[in-house]
Amino acid sequence: MKNKNLISITDFSKEEQLHVLDVAESFEQDPRQRILTDKVVATLFFEPSTRTRLSFESAANQLGARIIGFSDAANSSTAKGESLKDTILMVSNYADLIVMRHPKEGSSRYASEVAGVPVINAGDGANQHPTQCLLDLYSIRKTQGRLDKLDIAFVGDLKYGRTVHSLTQALCNFDCTFHLVSPVELKLPSYVKQTIKDHKLEYHQYTELADVIPTADIIYMTRVQRERFADLMEYEKVKNSYILNKAMLEGCKSNMKILHPLPRVNEIATDVDDTPYAYYFQQAKNGVFVRQALMALILGAKQ
Ligand code: CP
Repeated sequence: MKNKNLISITDFSKEEQLHVLDVAESFEQDPRQRILTDKVVATLFFEPSTRTRLSFESAANQLGARIIGFSDAANSSTAKGESLKDTILMVSNYADLIVMRHPKEGSSRYASEVAGVPVINAGDGANQHPTQCLLDLYSIRKTQGRLDKLDIAFVGDLKYGRTVHSLTQALCNFDCTFHLVSPVELKLPSYVKQTIKDHKLEYHQYTELADVIPTADIIYMTRVQRERFADLMEYEKVKNSYILNKAMLEGCKSNMKILHPLPRVNEIATDVDDTPYAYYFQQAKNGVFVRQALMALILGAKQ
């Protein structure tokens, strides 16, 4: 995986994805391995982030790498009109690896085509979030003991939720059944449903969250992505479509875990947090180990 870009989860084969999870397990056992002391990692965030940026930076710090970058493009020369191409060419002179989040779909792919160093996509618009996908896979395997033959319920904004797009594509390698719960306006895009069909797997669409709770192994809740709506009146109509609370969990499977890429707004009530089903905070913690694995593999410090 040395020098590979990670722009879409489909850039990594099933075997490569599983290898990242295995290496991440070794970092969970021993997170402070000083194996990137000669490396500089650039984190370029053109969109807000808490978990992705800070977990990448924590991961890099624990491996001894130095971090440069920005968390707000308003503090970069983008604000003076510099193009993305010129920014990426410049940062390629200063860093061994670029981690980039950008609001435009396709921006990370473009960056990888002009960069002189590997690029990791930390989220491009409503398209892909492959590093979130790998930590989601890690969390599912850790809690369920396997990735195959699971009933996965995705709930909420399946149209704009980039984490759902990446994770659905990855889970198509594992013979899962998909239960898609959304308002009609926020259904999973056709191209992602086509991937499920191409793998000869089943998906079922619902508008009621209660319909999937008894059979799901994983309930993957998502926030309605306000920032992707062109018309905020449309957002207002769907923003409170699903709010999962503790009482609704009665009768769920004992192994069931609730995941959420976070941040949550109100789609999981806080009374769920103390139930044995809540896993979203541990899920975010797993992001550090997965991002350590990715940087170590791409920068050639692990094989
Ligand atoms: N899951 C995720 O991408 O969170 P942030 O937007 O806080 O990075």
